[in-house]
Amino acid sequence: MLKVLTIDGPSGSGKGTVAKILAQKLEWDLLDSGALYRLVAYGALKHGIELDDEQSLSELALNLDVEFRLEEGSELLIPVFEGEDVSKKIRTETCGDAASKVAALTPVRDALLDRQRAFATEAGLIADGRDMGTVVFPDAPVKVYLSASAEERAERRYNQLKSSGESVSIAAILDEIKARDARDMNREVAPLKPAADAIEIDSTHLSIDEVVNQVSDALSKVG
Ligand code: C5P
Repeated sequence: MLKVLTIDGPSGSGKGTVAKILAQKLEWDLLDSGALYRLVAYGALKHGIELDDEQSLSELALNLDVEFRLEEGSELLIPVFEGEDVSKKIRTETCGDAASKVAALTPVRDALLDRQRAFATEAGLIADGRDMGTVVFPDAPVKVYLSASAEERAERRYNQLKSSGESVSIAAILDEIKARDARDMNREVAPLKPAADAIEIDSTHLSIDEVVNQVSDALSKVG
């Protein structure tokens, strides 16, 4: 049986954190598919490619010069793009916003498909993103759709930015989150939605541990 667990959901729902914890616990590999879209966006901004230039963007996505290096002393994978450690640079709001624009283009999504599927090996894979259960791994035996209210997600992001010393208004974050949700959910190709066979978890009032436990339970039921 395919050893893949998919976790889809909007930004800030906690899927990345849950995926990381579970991958460490199970010793499975991790695919942060959003990082791939962020890398394409970063490459486009770096090389001055317009965010609607489908041809150049899909070529960039297909030939993405990226290597994921294991950080010394930790289990974190560092994205090295064109020789440069971009782990922080791809996490900015500008890059996230540009990522959701390039992610709406079919040729870009197609160009990243094989690369994403290649992450699934016998070691087991936790894949997080927006279309892991619907498009990339439709045969995954366990699929999770993790959501949380936009207000809760804005608060989480606000606290995260505050603790890293950035001053932003919570209202601006909420607007940004709502705009990103709308773009991800209403696009024609691979819109963000739960797979028909996904387990839906609303994390608004749950701790990370509670979510991890619910997902672990679901996994143990399929063996
Ligand atoms: O998850 P993250 O916020 O890093 O993803 C950045 C953007 O990439 C998302 O807003 C979404 O538009 C896009 N994305 C996607 N499909 C995925 C993962 C991310 O369209 N599987």
